[in-house]
Amino acid sequence: MREIRRHFASDNYAGICPEAWAALEEANAEHAVGYGDDPWTARASDLIREVFETGCEVFFVFNGTAANSLALASSGQSYHSILCHETAHVETDECGAPEFFSNGMKVLTVPGPLGKVDPSGIEQLVLKRTDLHYPKPRAVSVTQSTELGTVYAAEEVKAVRAKAKEHALTLHMDGARFANAVASLGVQPKEITWQAGVDVLCFGGTKNGAHAGEAVVFFNRDLAREFEYRCKQSGQLCSKMRFLSAPWVGMLEDGAWLRHAAHANAMARRLHDRLLGLTEVKILFPVQANAVFADLPLPVALALRQIGWKFYSFIGQGGCRLMCSWDTREEDVEAFAADLEVCLREAPRDIPIPTGRSRKL
Ligand SMILES: Cc1ncc(COP(=O)(O)O)c(C=O)c1O
Repeated sequence: MREIRRHFASDNYAGICPEAWAALEEANAEHAVGYGDDPWTARASDLIREVFETGCEVFFVFNGTAANSLALASSGQSYHSILCHETAHVETDECGAPEFFSNGMKVLTVPGPLGKVDPSGIEQLVLKRTDLHYPKPRAVSVTQSTELGTVYAAEEVKAVRAKAKEHALTLHMDGARFANAVASLGVQPKEITWQAGVDVLCFGGTKNGAHAGEAVVFFNRDLAREFEYRCKQSGQLCSKMRFLSAPWVGMLEDGAWLRHAAHANAMARRLHDRLLGLTEVKILFPVQANAVFADLPLPVALALRQIGWKFYSFIGQGGCRLMCSWDTREEDVEAFAADLEVCLREAPRDIPIPTGRSRKL
């Protein structure tokens, strides 16, 4: 097995980007007040307000599952429901945390092409039942960029919002890869958030280059009421908060967050172009952010793994997700594509295929 330094399994595999690292180092130089009353947290919150060009409430938590769950919990009561796409991380990969942290809000799924919520599906779920025995819909959650590597255009967010508003639902955005969506669309962050009607955004830092941490950004400030208590109760109030907030300062101050996202997107585009036209390889979804989904013959995927490549397969039988990061290099793309070409030529097709699929994103 060859030593491979950068994989395509997940943007979580990548290390800490230099800007976040430098800020952490600086924050480490002296003492600072704990629990968020420190200059780094104040500066990071202000920078987020500058990025979105609006007043908003900002909270830093350790990870995306907590950010999503607590943000969604703040939108309703235990008897409410949350509507999201059937591939949404909040439904498929958070171990019931949104239900847990909301004391029972039920997650209901909506279909829609390319990982995006179909607004008419929202209506169908809302109108399906209006009686007392049904968990009353209260929030819609969309993921930007989506779990399938596609991106909602501003108009698409607005269409979801219009339907949500019609039925008095709040709009939550899981932005674990929000930076990749902004870089892909070339819009101002406000255009696909509060101007499109998003009430609360979980703004991803980890996949963008931080060591850990997501920012929960409430554009609808009413929803932020007592949110700090939710954070504390759920173990998400970081005592040395500056180490969650400082990376944001490093990454936002000089635009590194967008540069890194644009780079990851460009690497995905390059990988896509390299795979396009290879016999037996089928690109599954439009490549609009930093992920390429490709259908590979199972023996070929297996042979790539035997060489040492790591990537996930969870979309059907041979569907592989190839995720690019801020640190993916052109030579990584080339090395993967070259190995894939060899495996396509040489991998025996009659070997027994192990059953079961890997799951985690
Ligand atoms: C779409 C999406 N949302 C949220 C998350 C955040 O999850 P975690 O709790 O692992 O930080 C992830 C991570 O894989 C994700 O892909």
